[in-house]
Amino acid sequence: MLKKVYIQTWGCQMNVYDTELVKAILANKKYAFVQDELQADIVMLNTCAIRENAHRKVYGRIHDVKYKRNGKPVKIGILGCMATNLRTDLLENKNLDIDFIAGPDSYKRLPDLIEESYRTGDKQFDLTLSEFETYSDVYPQRGTSSYGDKREAKGGSSHSGIAPEARGVNAWIAVMRGCNNFCTFCVVPYTRGRERSRSVANVVDEAKRLADEGFKQVTLLGQNVNSYKHEDKDFADLMEAVSRVNGIERIRFTSPHPKDFPDKFLDLMAENPKVCKQIHLPLQSGNTRILDLMNRTYTKEEFLNLVDHVRAKVPGVALSTDVIVGFSSETDEDFEDTYDVMKKVEFDTAFTFKYSERKQTIASRKYPDDVPDAIKTERIVRLTELQKDITLKKNRAYIGKTLDVLIENPSTKHADCLVGRADGNQLVVFQSEPRAIGDIVPVKIEDASPAALKGTLKD
Ligand code: SAH
Ligand code: SF4
Ligand code: F3S
Repeated sequence: MLKKVYIQTWGCQMNVYDTELVKAILANKKYAFVQDELQADIVMLNTCAIRENAHRKVYGRIHDVKYKRNGKPVKIGILGCMATNLRTDLLENKNLDIDFIAGPDSYKRLPDLIEESYRTGDKQFDLTLSEFETYSDVYPQRGTSSYGDKREAKGGSSHSGIAPEARGVNAWIAVMRGCNNFCTFCVVPYTRGRERSRSVANVVDEAKRLADEGFKQVTLLGQNVNSYKHEDKDFADLMEAVSRVNGIERIRFTSPHPKDFPDKFLDLMAENPKVCKQIHLPLQSGNTRILDLMNRTYTKEEFLNLVDHVRAKVPGVALSTDVIVGFSSETDEDFEDTYDVMKKVEFDTAFTFKYSERKQTIASRKYPDDVPDAIKTERIVRLTELQKDITLKKNRAYIGKTLDVLIENPSTKHADCLVGRADGNQLVVFQSEPRAIGDIVPVKIEDASPAALKGTLKD
């Protein structure tokens, strides 16, 4: 009998992509995905473990799913990074009513796990991490349902900032999975295992199919995307190959690590019109001692030099970043270095997080979480205020300029406006006659807020 499935996704774009993979894997086995949780026979929670609040929400949801049912039966499955991070608790905690658990490399086993769960009534699980699984042979089920699911708690490698409404315009393609960097604060190498990459040909095939379906932009994904390596091909080779796909007009990528930006890649970005001039460059801290404790492999000065170099090579490049405040032993003076780097660099946008100690990480074993929460909050507030002014200043600098905007959707607030993204990923709201979603049009920028640019279609 056809089983109805509801899936909810937390965390980064990789998890969004994985949900699309899961849909494809189960669609082959005659499951139907539904938008209404109460209609579903099976509820799957695709979870994130990057910070404490991400996983606390999921624990709440597990109880909530059953409670809402008033006794009507439902199977609950836990997928994603919490599955591997909290495996012992999920498997042994008698208060958690879970039927099956699958880690990020075990989604092909889902049909078996679900069937076994129905057959035996026992908790089923597969949390094996693979050195090889890249799901190269699965074509994700994208389209309207991709973002139809409720999605919460932006997590991680996530911050390309592409609006959920951009369905049908942007598609994610995971080109590598896992991470070998072992930043001491980070749970990802434990939840997703070692780095592995798909072949260039396989990624290009996926991009071609997406172009045939009408997608105009692809965002290449990986926990550490610029470490992409398949046989003798590196990330620049991959980008170049994808840029040759007819119909794909823009290519973005997330999330890279500052250690892997060779000139070969920066030159490609500068010269290839399809490669958007936008880099997410996670700083994490501006203090060299803290960066060393974090195992980030660069100093304050090296990071500043990298920014100068990137800007010299790719004029006008938009830069965003991630910062953690209150890592173990971070003093006020240490934090001033982070403030200083943010002020000097003037990122276009920044995502700031309070340090959250995670099970399994090196920091949880070696470095105490000893900065009081109130101080972490103070530091976040200072960075947020600083960044808001910088973002506004940067956005206002576009006033009077004409930018190419990829149209994502009609504005929900203003009937005569459309919404899209400029090459640097800035959100642009502009007045226009109705135009096709997916068109790239010139827009004259007339106003700006910290959140968006506003303008008019230029004929
Ligand atoms: N691979 C990506 C990061 C994935 S996690 C990269 O290297 O950029 C996304 C962001 O979450 C990180 O950049 C970091 O700023 C934040 N983060 C990761 N672990 C964290 C932790 N334990 N506490 C607080 N923030 C964390
Ligand atoms: Fe985590 Fe560092 Fe890997 Fe990013 S590079 S996923 S922060 S270990
Ligand atoms: Fe979260 Fe896992 Fe992504 S921990 S941020 S879902 S890689």
